[in-house]
Amino acid sequence: MCGIVGVLGSHDVTPVILGALKRLEYRGYDSAGIATVHKGALDCRRAAGKLINLQEILVREPLRGFAGIGHTRWATHGAPSVENAHPHRSGPVAVVHNGIIENFQELRDELTAAGANFTSDTDTETIVHLARSHLAEGMTPLDATHATLRRLEGAFALAFLFEGEEDLLIAARRGSPLVIGHGSDEMYVGSDAIALAPLTDKLTYLEEGDWAAITRSSVQVFDTGGKEVDRPIVKIALESAAANKSGHRHFMAKEMAEQPSIIQKVLAAYINEGSGALTLPEGVQFNEIRRVVMVACGTAFYACQVAKYWFEQIARIPVEIDIASEFRYRDPVLQHDDLLIVVSQSGETADTLAALRHVAGQVRQTLAVVNVPTSSIAREADVLVPTLAGPEIGVASTKAFTAQLISLLLLAVKAGVEREKIDAEGLKTLMSEISTVPGLISQALDREQDYAQVAQKLAQSDDVLFLGRGVMFPMALEAALKLKEISYIHAEAYAAGELKHGPIALIDNTLPVVIFAPTGALFDKTVSNMQEVMARHGQVTLLTDAAGAKLACDVQNVIVMPTAPVVIAPLIYAIAAQMLAYNTAIARGTDVDQPRNLAKSVTVE
Ligand code: F6R
Repeated sequence: MCGIVGVLGSHDVTPVILGALKRLEYRGYDSAGIATVHKGALDCRRAAGKLINLQEILVREPLRGFAGIGHTRWATHGAPSVENAHPHRSGPVAVVHNGIIENFQELRDELTAAGANFTSDTDTETIVHLARSHLAEGMTPLDATHATLRRLEGAFALAFLFEGEEDLLIAARRGSPLVIGHGSDEMYVGSDAIALAPLTDKLTYLEEGDWAAITRSSVQVFDTGGKEVDRPIVKIALESAAANKSGHRHFMAKEMAEQPSIIQKVLAAYINEGSGALTLPEGVQFNEIRRVVMVACGTAFYACQVAKYWFEQIARIPVEIDIASEFRYRDPVLQHDDLLIVVSQSGETADTLAALRHVAGQVRQTLAVVNVPTSSIAREADVLVPTLAGPEIGVASTKAFTAQLISLLLLAVKAGVEREKIDAEGLKTLMSEISTVPGLISQALDREQDYAQVAQKLAQSDDVLFLGRGVMFPMALEAALKLKEISYIHAEAYAAGELKHGPIALIDNTLPVVIFAPTGALFDKTVSNMQEVMARHGQVTLLTDAAGAKLACDVQNVIVMPTAPVVIAPLIYAIAAQMLAYNTAIARGTDVDQPRNLAKSVTVE
């Protein structure tokens, strides 16, 4: 988490840094700060809270200088206060940091004993005190940085700025992503390509352990041992993050509304218009794969949970799924004919990236279903399936989730074809059902009034229970996650059949229970579970299709969803999960796009 930026400019850099920080705010918004060197002097402005607070300070106390670094924070060590905001400074050195210094306590004790005066609770501050102590020994900024890096344990992306040095930035990467941007007479450093998108399309990606000395006319990259190494400049065409909400109240609303066209775009990219054949990126021979292992976090994990059903049912291939933060620590049994699929919007999630690295050499191949094509995960996997959702700004994932789902569904169909588990007729039916997704999503979005009505009730409650069976269970989980993260209401999701094994004790006449149950093989069983809730006076809302609504006519509240073929139903009910959360958050007046404590990209473990 945290976004870092550095600029060696040809004019005052504060506005450029602010622009880059705005694009990085999805990484955290607990505090922000900028340091510059002007006429040789290092100066700094910092503010708690969102970037807007820093902007206000900069109006009152402008910061001049052609060289600078900036930071937007997601707090790890220390509260989100001004003291803990980056850049941290000690004498002639300032630093911005993304990551965690694991041995910070040991360093802090050592530096304090040597006379360093700590003014924050952060792990980061140890870095500037260390660098300062090496400079005081007479080292050059380069040598002092190298000596400092050698003492650090943990994960970091760093940018250093030094008093008296208006043509020098030092950047370092271990475990957290960092990219160098090449401009004309200007140089940049950023946490990702998106931060630098309007500034340059010429990028150098630092590799694990790299650190770099950057001036306006040169870049020297060194490996961990200090040996100079060659890293290529690549040209990347990037959509800059869409800066406006296109008339919507929130980015989340805009991104939900974009879903029909994004799904259409994915279908157009991965299905040949003339022949109807799948044109997904090649590289995996599904007939040689014995098992799929899927790993992700949060919403992306729920996409895996749905995909498990698809791969098993359509391609008859065993699938194991795992939460990335658990995966490598349980030392999973992996086999040479396994395919690892990682799913990630950002492509930078630390645990998912670590899972990808963990399996290296143990499985046949790795495949990444990723939205940001320039991300670390996208670059490190053997095969990349871009989800093509475009930049997602709202912290709660919406369009990236449905784009993950449709990409995974098409992959499952490809696997089914290659493994000869689908005949020509079955394939034709499946593809024709898949082609209806954009239209059905549009219809699901149109039920705004219905979602808003139910949301009014949910907003009154402190707890909500979501239930579903089969592929609707992950939808219930996704609905609960969305509700928690943007409305701050406690929500739980259960497989409906599991209710009677404990959670049913929660049911009383105050508890809203939302049930996802399209008609199909599991409808009757889900309705039986719903009856168990109603018998105990739970406040039921049923999400079903027209046929289901007719059959379950004794339910208090029903949202009639579009009638959808079973296989694509998760994509349609995902819209309901999002819209219920969104409308509840509106009713509660929370910060929909930047909910408290969260960040869009989770680059720490
Ligand atoms: C929820 C949400 C998170 C992410 C999770 C993984 O709305 O956005 O749960 O899904 O942090 O992030 P990515 O997909 O970037 O790996």
